[in-house]
Amino acid sequence: MDASNDFLPLMGTDYVEFYVGNAKQAAHFYKTAFGFQSLAYAGPETGVKDRASYVVRQNKLTFIFTTPLRSGNEMADHIYKHGDAVKVLALMVEDATDAWQQTTARGAVSYLNPITIQDEYGQLNMSGICTYGDTVHLFIERKNYKGVFMPGFRKWETNYNPLDTGLLYVDHCVGNVGWNEMNKWVSFYVNTMGFRNILTFDDHDISTEYSALMSKVMSNGNGFVKFPINEPAEGKKKSQIEEYLDYYDGAGCQHIALATNDIVATVTELQNRGIDFLKVPSTYYDDLIERVGEIDEDLVPLKDLGILVDRDEEGYLLQIFTKPVEDRPTLFFEIIQRKGAKSFGKGNFKALFEAIEREQDNRGNL
Ligand code: FE2
Repeated sequence: MDASNDFLPLMGTDYVEFYVGNAKQAAHFYKTAFGFQSLAYAGPETGVKDRASYVVRQNKLTFIFTTPLRSGNEMADHIYKHGDAVKVLALMVEDATDAWQQTTARGAVSYLNPITIQDEYGQLNMSGICTYGDTVHLFIERKNYKGVFMPGFRKWETNYNPLDTGLLYVDHCVGNVGWNEMNKWVSFYVNTMGFRNILTFDDHDISTEYSALMSKVMSNGNGFVKFPINEPAEGKKKSQIEEYLDYYDGAGCQHIALATNDIVATVTELQNRGIDFLKVPSTYYDDLIERVGEIDEDLVPLKDLGILVDRDEEGYLLQIFTKPVEDRPTLFFEIIQRKGAKSFGKGNFKALFEAIEREQDNRGNL
């Protein structure tokens, strides 16, 4: 897309906010296990009476963990219904008011009318719209703000600062939506946000002996923001998307792909810190080089760690998926290193989905 025609220019993902049952402990987990650093805090001590929010950062990745301090409000209801979950996929914009006007004029439902918040470090403009399920997009305009994170937050100082794990930025965020709803949300991203559909996977691409799903990858104009949308498809047994929808109680964010420049080092560190990954059978590696051609990495650590490889016309990619990071079989993370490839690992779908089905079967949900 010609950038001058892009009615919603996005500079990337600003942050991801999770509504969780205990933000203090969630932040500790993401610091300890994933290597995020403490950045900012808002809560009763900073004049925010209804919630506590902990902001952590690793390179260009910013996560916020927010918990309500009482019951009977939108945050508490969200957690009761969905469990710990992604609430906000916040996008960096030049003009938050224009982003809201452009999208709501095209039919997006407003979540937050444009507001300006300020403190001694400047002004920050933000606005928001609703997307699938109870998930929202906030538009964040921070060009006139010089503080640590946002007005209302103070710097979070701590003596507990685990080393990072080499995670760099959000590569893509995937949404799971209900039966026959994929195209509705594809149209939403096309019509109200100016995205385009760059890849489509049908149930022939993504099916195993038992279950299936369909997926369309949506990208904004400059390609900085990518949102694949999945829906379940009929199979002999229950689709992994259906399991998600049952336990999440509706549409929501399925996984966030985090980029690294050294997947072997990153995944070694994550495994040492207790993150569990899906494992494919070791036979996956027997003919790997025949399938994907020569790669820079040694096969042995890839096999030991369970890292998958796929190639497209432009290069190759290495990827691995965590198990769900909470007790509900809902949100998980992908770790991805791109070496030219712009695709999503289609060659790994079968091995990967069979690994997911083994987990589903262990939970009694296949
Ligand atoms: Fe992914």
